[in-house]
Amino acid sequence: MTAGGASSSSFSSSCSSLTSSIAAIDGTDFSPAMLAMASKTGVYRNLIRGDLTTRIHVVADAVYDVVVCVGTFTIGHVGSHPALREFFCVTRLGGDVAATILEEVWVSGGFQEEVEALAAEGQVAVVFRELIDYVKGHSDKAMLVILKMTTCD
Ligand SMILES: C[S@@+](CC[C@H](N)C(=O)[O-])C[C@H]1O[C@@H](n2cnc3c(N)ncnc32)[C@H](O)[C@@H]1O
Repeated sequence: MTAGGASSSSFSSSCSSLTSSIAAIDGTDFSPAMLAMASKTGVYRNLIRGDLTTRIHVVADAVYDVVVCVGTFTIGHVGSHPALREFFCVTRLGGDVAATILEEVWVSGGFQEEVEALAAEGQVAVVFRELIDYVKGHSDKAMLVILKMTTCD
């Protein structure tokens, strides 16, 4: 499993309760400070500095069962291209990519178009797509998508 946009907060704390059922979790983030915070959680096997606005060169293709990206597809952070397709490069066939995308950028940032293009190309199946609370108790919304990789082409 890998996490795009790793840190000490929401994703890490959720994973800490699951680590017995997950073989290993790697995390990536652009910020050395965030990687240092993530390191303190003890949740990650490897923490890798990476820029999700470019190709992912730091890990081999098709190595992860699951890629999770929480809170990183938002205003001023990471756009839909090439990140979504890059996640599928590092995911094994039959694996899943789960991501939250802030509602404000779901359409304007090209995420809806990219998800629909991946599905139309037959590369992924949309397993789940629903608007959820971005942070529980706050009014902001995010699209949660879970996409299953159905072909290696
Ligand atoms: C709102 S935080 C969410 C962090 C974490 N996923 C969590 O749930 O706590 C967004 C993260 O995206 C990272 N980020 C922003 N731009 C990035 C980029 N181009 N490549 C990789 N990470 C980036 C930030 O450093 C920050 O850690």
